[in-house]
Amino acid sequence: MSFTETQADVLVIGSGAAGLTAALSLAETRRVVVLAKGKLTSGSTAWAQGGIAAVLDAGDTFEDHIRDTMVAGAGLNDRDVVEFVIENAPASIERLIELGVPFNRESGDLHLTREGGHSHRRIVHVNDATGWAVQAALLKAAEENPNITLLPDRTCIDLITGRHEETYSGSGRVWGAYALDATTGKVEAHTARATVMAAGGAGRCYLFSTAPRGATGDGIAMSWRAGARVSNMEMMQFHPTCLYNLEVKNFLITEAVRGEGGRLYNPRTGKRFMTYYDEERMELAPRDVVARAIDAEIKRFGLDYVHLDISHEPPEFVKEHFPTIHEKLLGLGIDMTKEPIPVVPAQHYTCGGIVVDKRGRTDLPGLYAAGECTESGLHGANRLASNSLLECFVYGEAAARDILDHWDGFEAPPQVRQWDDTRVTDSDEEVVIKQNWTEIRRFMWNYVGIVRTTKRLERAANRIDLLHREIEDYYGQFKVTTDLIELRNLLQCADLIVRSALKRHESRGLHFTLDYPETDEVAKDTVLVP
Ligand code: FAD
Ligand code: SIN
Repeated sequence: MSFTETQADVLVIGSGAAGLTAALSLAETRRVVVLAKGKLTSGSTAWAQGGIAAVLDAGDTFEDHIRDTMVAGAGLNDRDVVEFVIENAPASIERLIELGVPFNRESGDLHLTREGGHSHRRIVHVNDATGWAVQAALLKAAEENPNITLLPDRTCIDLITGRHEETYSGSGRVWGAYALDATTGKVEAHTARATVMAAGGAGRCYLFSTAPRGATGDGIAMSWRAGARVSNMEMMQFHPTCLYNLEVKNFLITEAVRGEGGRLYNPRTGKRFMTYYDEERMELAPRDVVARAIDAEIKRFGLDYVHLDISHEPPEFVKEHFPTIHEKLLGLGIDMTKEPIPVVPAQHYTCGGIVVDKRGRTDLPGLYAAGECTESGLHGANRLASNSLLECFVYGEAAARDILDHWDGFEAPPQVRQWDDTRVTDSDEEVVIKQNWTEIRRFMWNYVGIVRTTKRLERAANRIDLLHREIEDYYGQFKVTTDLIELRNLLQCADLIVRSALKRHESRGLHFTLDYPETDEVAKDTVLVP
């Protein structure tokens, strides 16, 4: 095994908004290696549609954005963190403009769209494909930076900690990560003085998800195995409007469609059903409310989907605001300027994750984390739309600043043990992986979805126990592949979600259980300790 390309000052795991923001700041003075699973554009960042929330309009205030965030988060948010992120939003947008992100403008000013739960228009965007533009600008800047080495096709397996040191120092530090080079099949040790975990969410624990294929919670699982606490994993966000289509399974219809006037109808009764669920806010109620309303209509009337309709708006307006979605739907035979779009809720965002403080520090010395893999206190029990990319920018920057400010305290990594695969063989039963993937995602959807009960959660916990033995056995016998690494992490995250859900004896935000329908007076985080 070679250590050549793998020694860095700082190792960043993930090339999405959080990872690249951290890398660009760190690269002012440090040499950074960024690892990504598959392509450098494989994370959720490139898929983001709606935009980024920031107070930029004269009629809007930080206080309003803070209030909207905390109302959506059902009071579980950390007010101090909410203030920190929201007050840093305008500066984050400024940096993105400097990097060349071509945000939409109207008469020279940034155009602001509206999304559910926001009391003002405050979402900056690049048409309906904001994430792609952000990812492209960050990647271009990183590629041009001589201090940054970008390594795609590297699947991190586990963090390197004290137990991997050749001579145990007892420092308890994280020294980087072991990663499978998917192009050679070899496992490399990527050592560094500091590591930033930015590996995204765990959406693929669910059968239906808007998230990309690689959202298997690897960062959360690796950090947990290394000894970091995780929090609020039961707070899994379901987006109300994912396209219902038998061919295309996970195409999001942005919340901005409702923000710009889209209405939800029951296709059987023709009724605009949000009037029964949230008469005041209607389609612009927070996501948990709208997703539960759609779920209830679907179950009550035995529907496959509900209708999202914006065809009452002028066709030119619809095409101008939603060019990507319009074109995609036309390709599937749906003209959104003339007819409604069939939609269903789908898993969308992981609100819980690795516990971090305001400087992006985890429990483990040398390990920082930022973005969707974390629980910072910003989102609480439900994320407000378009606050997620914002969190990536603010925390990516905060983690980088803290590392740079304390650089003298970061020691050089010691000699670490090589990955030992002398006692494992090539897998002879790939079908086991496929079968277990499907099984996890199906029972998580059916038993740990939008509406929960203790009985369903216990059923899921039993399945997890059985699979745990089978998968660990398989992991111990065969050479690692990306699929096997992901399966192991998926199960680990499913376990954390179910255990957290069983611990919360109330309904709050995204966690709704028929056994405890009331909300406790005091909001408490669900913290799991390894
Ligand atoms: P990601 O962008 O997901 O990046 C994760 C990175 O980690 C990737 O590079 C991946 O390759 C890497 N990685 C993962 N596992 C490993 C491993 N084992 N080894 C090495 N590398 C690994 N939020 C908003 O604020 N506004 C929006 O409009 C919006 N729209 C969205 C639309 C969709 C369809 C989806 C799915 C999400 C949307 N979100 C939106 C949420 C937002 O996009 C994500 O929360 C955010 O992009 C997460 O960024 P990240 O940097 O934390 O992770
Ligand atoms: C969307 O465009 O509806 C997604 C926005 C988000 O997830 O914040």
